[in-house]
Amino acid sequence: MNAPLTDMSNAPDYVRHTKLRAWVSEIAQLTKPDRIVWCDGSVEENDRLCQALVDAGTFIRLNPTLRPNSYLARSHPTDVARMEDRTFICSEKKDDAGPTNNWVAPAEMRGTIHRLYDGCMRGRTMYVVPFSMGPIGSHIAQVGVEISDSAYVVVNMRMMTRMGRAVIEHLGTDGRFVPCVHSVGAPLSAGQQDVAWPCNQDEKWIVHFPETREIWSYGSGYGGNALLGKKCLALRIASVMARDEGWLAEHMLILGVESPKGEKHYISAAFPSACGKTNFALLIPPKAFTGWKVTTIGEDIAWIKPGADGRCYAINPEAGFFGVAPGTSEATNPNAMKTLKSNVIFTNVALTPEGDVWWEGMTDTPPAKLIDWQGQAWTPDCGRLAAHANSRFTVPASQCPSMDPKWEDPNGVPISAFLFGGRRSNTVPLIVEAPSWEDGVYMAATLGSETTAAITGKVGVVRRDPMAMLAFCGYNIGDYFAHWLKIGQSMTKAPRIFRVNWFRRDAAGKFIWPGFGENMRVLQWIVDRCEGRAQAANTPLGNMPRFEDISWNGLEKFSAAQFADLSAVDVAAWKEELQSHDELLAKLGAHLPQDLAQRRKQLHDKLAA
Ligand code: OXD
Ligand code: MN
Repeated sequence: MNAPLTDMSNAPDYVRHTKLRAWVSEIAQLTKPDRIVWCDGSVEENDRLCQALVDAGTFIRLNPTLRPNSYLARSHPTDVARMEDRTFICSEKKDDAGPTNNWVAPAEMRGTIHRLYDGCMRGRTMYVVPFSMGPIGSHIAQVGVEISDSAYVVVNMRMMTRMGRAVIEHLGTDGRFVPCVHSVGAPLSAGQQDVAWPCNQDEKWIVHFPETREIWSYGSGYGGNALLGKKCLALRIASVMARDEGWLAEHMLILGVESPKGEKHYISAAFPSACGKTNFALLIPPKAFTGWKVTTIGEDIAWIKPGADGRCYAINPEAGFFGVAPGTSEATNPNAMKTLKSNVIFTNVALTPEGDVWWEGMTDTPPAKLIDWQGQAWTPDCGRLAAHANSRFTVPASQCPSMDPKWEDPNGVPISAFLFGGRRSNTVPLIVEAPSWEDGVYMAATLGSETTAAITGKVGVVRRDPMAMLAFCGYNIGDYFAHWLKIGQSMTKAPRIFRVNWFRRDAAGKFIWPGFGENMRVLQWIVDRCEGRAQAANTPLGNMPRFEDISWNGLEKFSAAQFADLSAVDVAAWKEELQSHDELLAKLGAHLPQDLAQRRKQLHDKLAA
């Protein structure tokens, strides 16, 4: 960041941070926008931008009676999801990016960046978006500043983060911030008419420099590619900060469980994408669980720091939900449906004739007529999806009825347990508790999940997704495992670690476990384990509840035989499973912590016995 000779940042007087002004000036000189706007985060600014997005055809205002203050955006069909193959970790050494990340040498990438960004904002407005991940001023929070040429990004960032002037004031004259540059990569020549969803159809790049903690994103306007506070900062760059500073940045939801006796436990859970994380984070206990309460701290990301008392404390760095719409309904997630009543930005869902939204799974019977996510007339028999499989809602978390009273506590909440879950139709039991922290780290490191059509197009292939961080760890995954092992040693009251699998199927291919609210039964057992009162059977995989250790109140029809099916440890299948762990572990070379190699051997020996 070289200071330019003249301040061309257009910064308002309240910006007293010289380096910030200099950086904005520098990016403006590179990208050459028509104008620069510093976002203050006010309602007036947001209303103005939303109106401009409506005028530009990017937003459709939804029926204000049915869905007040809400909008629908339709993206370009080539810009509908995160792009893992276009995501790069440009560490000085290739080895520091590790075997699971795409790497390009920083000097080469700087050259590419210069080519891409030189004049890329011509004809556009460059917005400067200061944001805090976590409550402003929290000792766990971090500040970022995103420069973007997309008003859609600005209004989404306002919901997903604490955004605006208050962040600049908090930064003062020299506060630390992560510089994030985003461009849709679609400069406009003089007089050229803009399109509703500008993006670059030829080139997309999501680039991270872990040493200098910078993010550069080019060519996409969608989700995690463009809302740079989320996956880029809060996971990839934050995981590097966390390694260097002794904390954890995780792809985890955080929920609170309170028993009728008033015992409260916070649980943080990692699941790969498309495993129902939002449903679990917003869970409503079944009727029979009188007096039990489940509350939400966050549904995607957790930042976790060891505290002075030997426990660890977590915040949700985000302020909003950017959730997958399809499959969300009154039956699967009533809290989400209540959250979505107003003030929502929907992207790539279908539009009803009344001016409201619809997506697959919202109702059993689809409406007779819709406009699909690409703006085409749609009928139930037309053979196309009405909403894109990765269509989304952006909504303030504060609107969710289950938010915990402490969800914005700057000191975070104490974590009693970590859960790791994947989508596995066989082999992996409903719930297993790791006998030790190290066993738990092995379980988490070897987490696998079957891919869904929404992820890869190939269905049912087990993909190893360590800690659900495969696409999000900003450094060598072997070093990340070592970091987890070390963090455990730094806590005298480390959380217990569990692995869950809601997705096991029976011989007929049907899900055995009812899931959704019924997952409360598993949560109760976990809380009881944390309280030191629940029994468990010792198995080669770890501690597992027996049928009688789970409360079946209200689900009496679930039989002991079904539970046995869910909990069965098939030794032959586990031998294959271990071989598939080896494929990941072998990639780590010298970065494989010896502790994990030993756990692999112990697991093998226990299964053989
Ligand atoms: C997400 C994801 O969008 O994990 O949260 O893909
Ligand atoms: Mn996620």
